[in-house]
Amino acid sequence: MSTLRFPDGFRWGAATAAHQIEGNNVNSNWWELEHRPGSPVVEPSNDAADSYHRFAEDIALLADAGLNAYRFSIEWARIEPERGVVSRAELAHYRRMIQACLDHGVEPIVTLMHFTVPRWFERDGFWRADDAPELFARYTESVLGILDGVRVVCTINEPNIAAMLAGGEDAKNLVAHGLPFPDLHVADQLLASHRRSREVLSALPGVQSGWTIATQAFHASDEEGSEQALLEYGHPRDFWYLENSAGDDFLGVQAYTRTFIGPEGPLPVADGVETTLTGWEYFPPAAELGLRSAWELSGHVPLMITENGIATADDARRIDYTRGALEGVHRAIADGIDVRGYLHWSLLDNFEWASGYRPTFGLVGWDPQTFERRPKPSLAWLGDIARHGALET
Ligand code: NOJ
Repeated sequence: MSTLRFPDGFRWGAATAAHQIEGNNVNSNWWELEHRPGSPVVEPSNDAADSYHRFAEDIALLADAGLNAYRFSIEWARIEPERGVVSRAELAHYRRMIQACLDHGVEPIVTLMHFTVPRWFERDGFWRADDAPELFARYTESVLGILDGVRVVCTINEPNIAAMLAGGEDAKNLVAHGLPFPDLHVADQLLASHRRSREVLSALPGVQSGWTIATQAFHASDEEGSEQALLEYGHPRDFWYLENSAGDDFLGVQAYTRTFIGPEGPLPVADGVETTLTGWEYFPPAAELGLRSAWELSGHVPLMITENGIATADDARRIDYTRGALEGVHRAIADGIDVRGYLHWSLLDNFEWASGYRPTFGLVGWDPQTFERRPKPSLAWLGDIARHGALET
């Protein structure tokens, strides 16, 4: 038995995103996508976990377990349902969420854009529109007034995934096995939007801002040409974003699995390898590897794990995975990497985008009819580590 101690002030928490848990996000582009005939989304989000109405209970569950941080997103489609029209009622709603965190001694970690955008923003050109960075800056400006007491803001969640999703149907954007290649113009626009948003946020001196990047722990396969393919794919997919985080107040690292790259690009998970409900390889060291590459490529920006977790129906497996991930986070810290926190994905079982509700990532489940919360043993387990600031192994 040994005790792995984490630094004082380390943030221990869980993360969610508005569209995935709130329910009825009707003015968002995803709601529209889900209800389109022939939609690629397996089922619509509908009421999701009804956290729009139950956030107070959800925050209380997190706090009572012993966690001290909650990362959630403000929904742009609710704040600005029509171009230029800001909803005071929705601003008040998110202020209540922030206040609920503060009242429980929980650090609110607020994301401004977690994949979903208002329908009008997509209609008017999406991230490709010339004025996208200005529109995102204007939205940022509209929420400044509710951020009192907030110290950490994530501008854009996983811009590197957003740039792939915006790759559209353009065939040349597809590489082997159907994995999209990032749209480089969208990548530039997202970076410009991030920077404009940070400028606006700098009006609040107590706020630290950054963005969150999906890291993938790429490994070259043994085949010839794989190393080169890794650089060609990995650079626009991840590395470029990590490098462009230099100078930010912090960088959010999100890590779940690893991907092997062959000469033609990303390879499917090999036969016989253990996978999770998302079909990804079960690979707890992903968090550590994500931290190491983010630290190096960003030129030592302070880091936080803003997402890490596993889609499984077996909660004991979730605990094993998370223990493995935390051991890796601890190794990174012991090697001098500045890691400020660990936020588990996710607080609640939720709507996993195109895959619907089947991949369950939550520390807390819920009854699909009554929405009654059902905390899993992993919630108390992680809360206990948070209370002690230490992991027993
Ligand atoms: C990253 C995304 O930010 C989140 O929305 C998603 O549910 C998880 N990873 C799991 O895929």
